Amino acid sequence: MVRHTATSVVTIERFIIEQEGRHPEATGHLSGILYDLGVAAKMIANKVRSAGLADILGSAGTENVQGETQQKLDIIANEIIVKAMDHGGRLCAMASEESEDIIPIPDTFKHGKYVLLFDPLDGSSNIDVNVPVGTIFSVMKKITHGPRGCLKDMLQPGHRQVAAGYVIYGSSTMLVYTTGHGAHGFTLDPSIGEFLLSHPEIRIPEHGHYLSVNNAYEQHWTEPVRALMRRYRGLDGKREAMSGRYVGSMVADFHRNLLGGGVFAYPPNSKNPGGKLRLLYECNPLSFICEQAGGAAFDGHTRILDVQPTSLHQRTAIYVGSKCDIEIAREMLG
Ligand code: AHG
Ligand code: MN
Ligand code: MN
Repeated sequence: MVRHTATSVVTIERFIIEQEGRHPEATGHLSGILYDLGVAAKMIANKVRSAGLADILGSAGTENVQGETQQKLDIIANEIIVKAMDHGGRLCAMASEESEDIIPIPDTFKHGKYVLLFDPLDGSSNIDVNVPVGTIFSVMKKITHGPRGCLKDMLQPGHRQVAAGYVIYGSSTMLVYTTGHGAHGFTLDPSIGEFLLSHPEIRIPEHGHYLSVNNAYEQHWTEPVRALMRRYRGLDGKREAMSGRYVGSMVADFHRNLLGGGVFAYPPNSKNPGGKLRLLYECNPLSFICEQAGGAAFDGHTRILDVQPTSLHQRTAIYVGSKCDIEIAREMLG
């Protein structure tokens, strides 16, 4: 593997190609998917940056399949990804948080051997107030035999992901991805329009300092969850208190904790008894990245990546972050 020094300039394109070189059997299709996702990310970043000026803030007046209000940017980001990805000949189907059914690849395009699942814009209710938002994606290999991808190809447990990543549109735009060989981060240099390697081999600290959870639901949590949160906050005297940090965009909360150490938790509550966050579009990809960085992810019973999905828009509870802190969740809830 090529070694880079701190001052090496490495574009995401070159990094992807170098990683592909580790697999003599690779066809280049997965690399192509990652590269195209990088292009889509730059297009979405551009829309997010100019949202306040271009009349694309606010609600679109529609709801998605989950009954959530769609923001105009949810729809725009969704379209950008579909249009960037549908004609490359590498995918056989897609699924998006914003689309009720699988998104087929048009017959006019070649069909490939991968499926792509994505949350086009995560934290979109924050967009009007200039809080970071993100995009999350997951790639799996097709397991059925026909040319088109189907539901069965989407409903694979997270440990079968071949790649996953997220983009955070924050004070800078960053793309973090894994193909199962560590998690690596790239920062967009807007002056040249390239993602450059800025965070190779990300490692999440084993013990974290930040706790990201929406405390407003405390009254709706179960007693074991309340006890766990008291432990994290140091209120039972059994550990040092963590600091609370909750933006309300999972990507932003997760990214902070990935780099600085900590836990992001969305426990079940009476409003969302099965949890709120989506297994396939949010929890699987971020859990894969977290594990690749040395962390862990758990749903209250099971490792997230071992959960067998049963439906496309399935929700789950999640506790993801620093390994030792997730171990505490496992002991207190599992
Ligand atoms: P999305 O915008 O894709 O629907 O996701 C919003 C999610 C997630 O980003 C965030 O962590 C969570 O909703 C916040 O939920 P609460 O407001 O219930 O805390
Ligand atoms: Mn989301
Ligand atoms: Mn979303």
